[in-house]
Order: sequence, then structure tokens, then C-alpha cells
Amino acid sequence: LSTNGGPGVSGGPTVHGDLAELRERARAVLDPAHYDYYAGGVGDEVVLGENEAAFRRLALLPRVLRGRATRDLAVDLPGGRLALPVLVAPTAFHRLAHPDGELATARAAAAAGTVLVSGVASTVAIAEVVAAAREVDAGAAVWFQLYPHPEHDVTACLVRRAERAGCTALVVTADSPVFGRHRRDAEHGFHDLPEGLAAENMRDLPGGPPGGTRDIAMSPAVSWADLDRLRALTSLPVWLKGVLHPRDAVLAVEHGAAGVVVSNHGGRQCDLVPAAVDALPAVVEAVAGRVPVLLDGGVRGGGDVAVALALGAAAVGVGRPVLWGLAAAGEAGVARVLDLLRDEFDHVLALCGGRDPADLTRDLVVPRGTGV
Ligand code: FNR
Repeated sequence: LSTNGGPGVSGGPTVHGDLAELRERARAVLDPAHYDYYAGGVGDEVVLGENEAAFRRLALLPRVLRGRATRDLAVDLPGGRLALPVLVAPTAFHRLAHPDGELATARAAAAAGTVLVSGVASTVAIAEVVAAAREVDAGAAVWFQLYPHPEHDVTACLVRRAERAGCTALVVTADSPVFGRHRRDAEHGFHDLPEGLAAENMRDLPGGPPGGTRDIAMSPAVSWADLDRLRALTSLPVWLKGVLHPRDAVLAVEHGAAGVVVSNHGGRQCDLVPAAVDALPAVVEAVAGRVPVLLDGGVRGGGDVAVALALGAAAVGVGRPVLWGLAAAGEAGVARVLDLLRDEFDHVLALCGGRDPADLTRDLVVPRGTGV
């Protein structure tokens, strides 16, 4: 990994190195407890490994001589246009990775022309995150991720904050009725943010201490009725994240979700579920084009993006790679991650004879080892 001091996409130094090098750089600079908080998964970390391994079990069957001279990587989604079919998945506590935290992530995503899904568990308040993105690009789209809070007035307050900040969509994470149990965190005794860092969106909420923060609560009591109540609060598109069962994808559509995100939370919630990409085709089939389907989990290169799109995803989210870039080099590191994914995806699309994401169709993916 090196920087040449030249201008990057977002005006900072250009960062070199591939994703694996950025990850090693992150490991070298981060407190081991924080590195493991980001890197780790639930239980025996079976799903964590499977998310990446499942992509290796799939092959692309390119088409040839399609006469596509130019390429256009953009996709339009409820809540914004992406210049490349990759967005930044919501991950918590970016200031553990870099002092600029979510401000750096927001700037790099805006410079790349893509969406940052900013988490409720951000260490910078959502209004400042959106402002940072809009300084780079006045049209930048930032989405806000939240868990349906068991107290509705807390959820309502968070939705208002996201709206006032200028977010263009909400992402409701549904796969977390309880917190996943992470052995690495237990081993490090990592349970609280260090002094000076806080979940800033949780400050000054109903029922909380004035000026202080409330805990991010997850609850097995939340239901489809809570999604309905949340939707009734806002005219923003509402995505449902953490869907694996095709029947839930259908329910999401019936309850007015603008789209669904096939995700197992990066292997951080239940260690018994399928790899995200393995769960994708059945969800795509069940949704049958009524709303767009996103995928996150294990995307580590442009080839993975192409495979996910061919299987029916409209775009993919990346979680940990962005954190590695952020830890390694702040805004320029996140810019590097997005550049790499754009460049690799563009290259694979060309090799498949494709002009745009719609050219990546289901017949282009086969199980590795079969050929058809
Ligand atoms: C997450 N993820 C997550 N998702 C969410 O909806 N709300 C959250 O607060 C978080 N927090 C979080 C923290 C960390 C450290 C990680 C790694 C992940 C899950 C995230 O949105 C996404 O589903 C996965 O990260 C995708 O998998 P990859 O790209 O990390 O393999």
C-alpha cells in the first residue's frame, strides 16, 4: 500500500493496493479489539466464511461478439441513482476506524456517485453525515438505516431526524430481533465505545437522559405492524434489509417496502443461515420484479458484483471492505475501495459482452465445475 500524493477521485491522495492489502493495513493500524469487532462474525463464523466462499462456487458464462462498444454502469433505485451498482452497506462506529469516521465515508461515497447507507449506530450525527456528502456533490443521496425500536416514539424521532437531514430513503434492518453473539468481542472484553465516541443519532431521544444517548435496542417483539407504522410516518422509500426467506420478501412487497436487501448481516447474526448469494435467486424469483432486490455479504471484487447482478440483484452493498479502506487511509482509502470495485466490475462487464447491468442475465451464472 502506498500513496503517491496525487489527487484522488475525491481530492485526497491516491491510495494504491488491492482490497487484501487494505485489509492488512487496517489490521496493522487498528486496535486488535476494534479490528476483530469489524472482522468478526457470530458463533463459529461459518456464515462469515460462506458469504465469500459461495461466490467462489459460481462461474460466469460470458457471451461473445455482442457489439457493445460502450458501457454505462449506472442504476436507478428508489432513493437515488448509483453511478456504479455498488453502495456502502450500513456498518456501525466508523470513528473506531478513523477520526473522520462517517464524514470520510460520506465524502468518498458521494465522490464516487454512490449511496452511503448511514447506520443508526454512526459516531457522527446523520445531519452532519448528509452535509459532508452534499459538500462533495449537492445531489448526493444518503440513506438512513435503523432498527425498528420497540418504543414507537423513538423510531418516529429517528425517522424525523433522517428526513430533516435530507436522507432520500430509509433502510429498516429486520434480521436482528436480538444481538448476535460475537466470540471475538467477548474475548477482547469489547462491549463499549471508547471515551469520546458515541452513537450520536441516539442522543436526546424520548425516554433518554438529556444530552445523553440511549442504547440501540433490538426487540423480538417488532413485527410487520411496526413496519406499517414506520411507513405511515414518512413518504421516503423504505427498504427492508436482512431478508433471506422468499415468503418474507413477498410480505415485504405486500407491506409496501420499496425494495428488499438480501443479507445475513455479514455473518454477524445467525450462524446457521445460507450464504447471502445462495439465498438471492429464490428471493428474486418470489419478488418477481415488483421491487428491486439488493444483496450484501461477501462481495470482494467486481466479479462478485457481476455474479450478484446476473442472479437478479439490482446492486450490491459492501460492508467490511469500506471499513478496511477507511482504517487504512480515511476518505482516500474508501475512495480506493469504490474505485477498485468500479474498475473491476466494468472490466468483467466488458468481458461478458455487456453494455450495462441489464445485460447481465441469469443464464450467465453456472455452478463452478459444470460449465452449463
Ligand atoms: C454491520 N452491518 C450492519 N447492518 C445494519 O443493518 N446495521 C448495523 O448497524 C450494522 N453494523 C455492522 C457493523 C459491522 C462492523 C459490520 C461488518 C457489519 C451489516 C452490514 O450492513 C452488511 O450487511 C454486511 O457488512 C455485508 O457483509 P460484508 O460486505 O461485510 O461481507
